[in-house]
Parts: sequence; structure tokens; C-alpha cells
Amino acid sequence: MKFDEVIMERRSIRGYKSDPVPKDVIRDIVRLAIRAPSSMNTQPWHLHVVTGEPLDKIREGNTERNLAGVPASREIRMHGAYEGEHRKRQIAIAAQLFETMGIEWSDKERRRDWVMRGFRQFDAPVSIVVTFDKSLTNNDIAIFDCGAIVNCLVNAAWSRGLGAVINGQGIMQSPVVREHAQIPDDQTIMSCVAMGYPAEDFSANDVVSRRRDVDEVVNFVGYE
Ligand SMILES: Cc1cc2nc3c(=O)[nH]c(=O)nc-3n(C[C@H](O)[C@H](O)[C@H](O)COP(=O)(O)O)c2cc1C
Repeated sequence: MKFDEVIMERRSIRGYKSDPVPKDVIRDIVRLAIRAPSSMNTQPWHLHVVTGEPLDKIREGNTERNLAGVPASREIRMHGAYEGEHRKRQIAIAAQLFETMGIEWSDKERRRDWVMRGFRQFDAPVSIVVTFDKSLTNNDIAIFDCGAIVNCLVNAAWSRGLGAVINGQGIMQSPVVREHAQIPDDQTIMSCVAMGYPAEDFSANDVVSRRRDVDEVVNFVGYE
């Protein structure tokens, strides 16, 4: 696949075939992803590739705790609710997904089911839990570096015919993830990436999210 095709055609995938992903395929994707740049080449990331029973236990634990109303316990600092333009974009992608899935805004039950799918990591056969060295806590650059490798991961997966979605929901109940993914004490959980072969008949997989125009994003200086 050409670079432009990967970048322009990749979408978040939220419906998966149950087929397992061979270890060699994941190794190949990670081989590409670890070419991500990082501050002073520090490569502060660790990737915990979880499948099978441990992943099922994470799904179960997340679901139980969320249904029981256990507050989220992420290991990175979180903002409050998005506001203004950010909130509008957040609602726009949700509206696109719900419309495609035939979920009415008023249908609280189906909306909740959708949220619970996220907590189950969209039933993907693989979850890659991304962590960074705890010694770099309070160093925002380590978080920036993790973003770089995660972006490379989702694009590398796409280039190999797999789908992925970065899945903040999947690590919201961090003690569950920590236990079943066997995360060492000296690492902080950043996020996770659900991955697998895209289900062909899952309409949300066709949603193309919108982007701001280049001219809205860019401020050219010194070009005149
Ligand atoms: C840090 C981060 C966390 C995300 N968490 C979730 C999530 O919990 N659930 C979800 O459905 N999508 C999640 N996404 C995917 C975004 O919704 C998606 O990337 C965005 O809407 C753009 O769509 P695209 O990936 O199809 O281009 C996350 C993306 C990022 C970068």
C-alpha cells in the first residue's frame, strides 16, 4: 500500500472478525511502529499485546466495574468534559457513528450498549496496552512520544489489512488491565489499541470521520 492510501483510507474499526491474529503479524506491525520518532530517541514506550483468556478477563472486569458504577481510574491526568469546538466535534463523530448504526439519540439503552462495546474493546481479538516508564511521570514529552507510536501502530495495522481503534475506554478501569495484562509496577498505562481483522458487515467500520480544512488548521507565517 502506498503511504497516501494508508493515511487517507485508515479509519477506526469498531467491529471485528473473531479470527485470531498470528503473533508474526503483530510482530511485523510492531516492527514498523517502533520506527516512530521520540524525544532524543528515548523510546519510553512498552507494548503489552494481550489476547485470549487474559483479554476476556479484562473485558469482563471492565464491564462489571462499569455496570457497578465504579469511577474511572486512569493512570494519566484527564481533562473534564470537552467544551466549545471540541465538544461539537466529539458530538459530530458520535452522531455519524450512531446514524450509521441506526441508533437514535433518544434510545438510551442502545447508546449504553455502544458504550459497553467500547469497554469490551469492541470484542477485538487483540488489545495492545501502551505504557511508559513511570520514571518519566510529569514529563509530558513521554505522553507525546506514546502518541507517536500509537499513530504508527494503527497505520501499520491498516497497511497489513488489519483494523484498529485507539481505545481510551479500554483502560479506564486500570487495576483490571494492570492485573490481567501483567503490567509491571514501574510502568504507567497510557492507552490501548484494539486490533484485528475488520468485520465486513459492520456499518460503523465504513464511517469516515471529518477533518478541519488545511486552511483552518494552518497559520502560514513569512510566506507572503
Ligand atoms: C487518545 C484517543 C482515545 C480514543 N478513545 C476511543 C474510545 O475510547 N472509543 C472509541 O470508539 N474511539 C476512540 N478513539 C478513536 C477516535 O474516536 C477516532 O480516532 C476519531 O474519531 C477519528 O476517527 P478515525 O480514527 O476513524 O479517523 C480514540 C482516539 C484517540 C486518539
